[in-house]
Amino acid sequence: MRRVDELRERTVWKSDPHTQVKHLVYRHYLQCWMGKILQKFPEATIVDAFAGPGVYTDGPPGSPVVVAKTFLEHTAYRRFNKLNLICLEERPDRVEELRRQFAKLSPSPQLNISVQPPGVFAEQQPRLSALAHRGRAETPVLWLIDPFDLKSAPFSLIRQCLAGPRDEVLFTLFTNELHRFCQREGYDKTMTPYFGGTHWQSAVPERRGRREAFAAAYQQGLKDQGLFTGGFGIKVSSQSARYHLILATHSEAGLKCWAPVTWKLDHYSGQGASAETAGALSLFDESSVVDRLDVALRTYAGTAQRWETLSSQAARLNHMDKHLRQVLDNLAAQGLAFRVDPVQARTAWPEGCTVRFYAPEDVADEAS
Ligand SMILES: C[S@@+](CC[C@H](N)C(=O)[O-])C[C@H]1O[C@@H](n2cnc3c(N)ncnc32)[C@H](O)[C@@H]1O
Repeated sequence: MRRVDELRERTVWKSDPHTQVKHLVYRHYLQCWMGKILQKFPEATIVDAFAGPGVYTDGPPGSPVVVAKTFLEHTAYRRFNKLNLICLEERPDRVEELRRQFAKLSPSPQLNISVQPPGVFAEQQPRLSALAHRGRAETPVLWLIDPFDLKSAPFSLIRQCLAGPRDEVLFTLFTNELHRFCQREGYDKTMTPYFGGTHWQSAVPERRGRREAFAAAYQQGLKDQGLFTGGFGIKVSSQSARYHLILATHSEAGLKCWAPVTWKLDHYSGQGASAETAGALSLFDESSVVDRLDVALRTYAGTAQRWETLSSQAARLNHMDKHLRQVLDNLAAQGLAFRVDPVQARTAWPEGCTVRFYAPEDVADEAS
């Protein structure tokens, strides 16, 4: 049976390597998100809006079960406050299967699982949002938006999911489909609502890396709304990305969880993992990919910057503090960065330090 027919006709379908990589990203991100959010806030919610049946025919769990297990098996589980997990699925047979899968898990008083009656997300979103926030707009809510097609999750719907101040979205962006069909006549009628504008057109002329250009355009649309965003290409082996996972968040703290996830899965660039590279050590030297951060820090020449500013800058460029320290080491070796405060410290770039930057001209030997 062809995969498209399997997905349409069967209640449960077979997993594939892309799904495994996607779930790995979910798991790593959730580990960090849960560790931070569930010890800080009295309760939080995850909405799996395109939940599926919770299992694949060849055995792996579906995303709602991945979420529940990540919670139940978390090392900080005993310190966690309450997590609400709300699942929506349009097909009654898949809802039934999902309920069966959840029944196999041992119940936990801290985990409140609610499988909703079959429903279409766009119609149910306002009701789910009220359920998820539990009467308080500030309740942190992570929305997992993982449909089969472009039409089920237009940008307006993603915006709706980000209405609360602590709402976050982890969204599957169909970059391969965009790449293949963007020049098809009439396809703009699908693309423009998907992106929430015509900015997708900037990616069309790209000959190489058009999928990445679509992801970047989508992320620019989020940034234009004042949001923070991270992206990650999901691919198999050396093939191009089939889709991207896009994170949208109101807080830079969300990005602090995202960067380590992407670097864990892709040691080379932190931009996209294949099924093979996930978990494997890279042959490449990481230093080649901190160039963007190096360029950004050089623009501070002539100023002193606090660690918090530098760390924020690094997070926005999808780098971790360890990369920041690596770039600072390199700049310091060239005389372009100096820690000016504190004078004494056990490590070169402690949190809270202040760094003064210089330009190469400042260092040049006048006599030569
Ligand atoms: C890509 S699958 C989800 C896979 C699941 N997130 C996982 O990772 O295991 C998409 C699911 O959404 C369901 N679906 C499709 N359109 C929907 C809609 N508009 N609202 C809710 N569910 C929908 C499909 O029946 C399918 O089970």
